[in-house]
Amino acid sequence: MRFLITGGAGFVGSHLTDALLQRGDEVTVLDIASDLKVRQHAGNRKFRYVSGSVLDRRVVESLVSWCDVIYHMAAVVGVEHYVSDPYQVLNVNVNGTQNILAAAEKERKKVVFTSTSEVYGKNSSVPFAEDADRVLGSTEVDRWSYSTSKAVGEHFCFGFAKRGLPVVVTRYFNVYGPRLDRVNAGRVMAIFFGQLLRGAPLTVIGDGRQTRCFTYIEDAIRATIAAGLVKEAVGQVINIGSDEEVTIHDLARRMIRLSGQRASIVFVPEVEAYGRGYEDIRRRVPDITKMREILGVAPRVALDDGLKRTIDWFSREGTTAEWLAAMDEPQTEIEFPPRNGPRA
Ligand SMILES: NC(=O)c1ccc[n+]([C@@H]2O[C@H](COP(=O)([O-])OP(=O)(O)OC[C@H]3O[C@@H](n4cnc5c(N)ncnc54)[C@H](O)[C@@H]3O)[C@@H](O)[C@H]2O)c1
Repeated sequence: MRFLITGGAGFVGSHLTDALLQRGDEVTVLDIASDLKVRQHAGNRKFRYVSGSVLDRRVVESLVSWCDVIYHMAAVVGVEHYVSDPYQVLNVNVNGTQNILAAAEKERKKVVFTSTSEVYGKNSSVPFAEDADRVLGSTEVDRWSYSTSKAVGEHFCFGFAKRGLPVVVTRYFNVYGPRLDRVNAGRVMAIFFGQLLRGAPLTVIGDGRQTRCFTYIEDAIRATIAAGLVKEAVGQVINIGSDEEVTIHDLARRMIRLSGQRASIVFVPEVEAYGRGYEDIRRRVPDITKMREILGVAPRVALDDGLKRTIDWFSREGTTAEWLAAMDEPQTEIEFPPRNGPRA
């Protein structure tokens, strides 16, 4: 089959690319980022990287006409963006999604839209079933721009579905693994890992009692592929996650233990880390009944195991000069473990 993956040069998209090519499918990636995370496929006749934006309707239409199924993953992702540039979050996540759906409708192609656990907002009644309420804060709080943008994307999906378009909505819960982000940037694990490498204390934002269910990339990809293939998934919204709940404080402790480092943990007030435009979500736990029953996928990789594999990748590849240079980091190779040991 032929798959178009928008945002395919990102973390999840690059792993999906690996898995689909491994199955023997043809894959085109459309992304504005460097091809670093999919460069391993250069030269593969079944793989194509197109540098361009989902906001470019002409490019989108031509690629949609080529494929059988679209995985629409392109999005502006990450807390630093929600609070620093909510306009781009809304622009790409809403208008880009609309472009994809309009082109898919014209060409009668199936779309898998990747949404997020963030749509549940601060609903405190966990676990979240897919029909749970969305509980959000004020529009004056920028952190809700991402949740809102993805929810609007979902509404567009269901709007197009009513007109006959086959769509599936997947909501990811904190997916992690190799190639997550560059060290020191992006999501919590990459930041903790950068701190471990530098021998610096791990900075837990808030009181550390907020919880997440981290989903290892391999489990997320098995579910994502099923979402694109299983007929019963069409018209559904499906949580993709794990039900192993952990506090961020415990995550920091596990990462210290599994990396074999000695490091301390410091707590940083939310307002100091993200300014006033931020509110954290206390607990985030998915109900994964639909993932098990419709997609036939259950999480297999326990957190400690996934963390070990991720730490191993960061130590071997994620900190090489090539990787850091390509990700706009200074070209110094970081040693792991640090030669002088941790400072803390
Ligand atoms: N990783 C997670 O835990 C998680 C959780 C919830 C939802 N999601 C969703 O899954 C998808 C993939 O997330 P990820 O973790 O791989 O993030 P990522 O940032 O690594 O990937 C997103 C990709 O989209 C690309 N992109 C941004 N704007 C674009 C544009 N205008 N045109 C084309 N490409 C563009 C980026 O360059 C990036 O490569 C996103 O839609 C995200 O909202 C991820």
